[in-house]
Amino acid sequence: MRVTVLNGPNLNLLGTREPEIYGRATLAEIEALTRARAAELGATVTWHQTNHEGQLVDLVQQLPAGADGALINAAALTHTSLGLRDALLAVRVPFVEVHLTNILARETARRQSVLADLAVGIVAGFGPRSYVLALDALVGHLRALG
Ligand code: DQA
Repeated sequence: MRVTVLNGPNLNLLGTREPEIYGRATLAEIEALTRARAAELGATVTWHQTNHEGQLVDLVQQLPAGADGALINAAALTHTSLGLRDALLAVRVPFVEVHLTNILARETARRQSVLADLAVGIVAGFGPRSYVLALDALVGHLRALG
């Protein structure tokens, strides 16, 4: 079971970025939590973070070659990027949309995702645990597909 995790803009700043909203955990700490759970589940994790929309599109286009499924926190691009949506439509790799915060409880512009209807499901609002919960859900989904 190969899972790729894609993280979008500004998530490299977790730990110091608006800690009252995003908490104090760094992205490296979230990666470690996710990898530990993946090891328990017998899954391998490939981890990426980029601040660049085009690079995220490239990474999505590469998913079929290396992943059975993906966790995607596209950060602000979640709300705006038709390019990312088109890439996900093109590859059709199962993914779970992940957010640290409950985007539905935030500003109006963040309450919309242009990716969510393409996802197997969404996990949002549990801080770093969103990644672990999403991994459990994705692996369960992929195993059920057989
Ligand atoms: C986020 C929510 C987005 O609205 C925001 O732009 C982020 C992080 C989250 O994980 O809660 O950068 O995706």
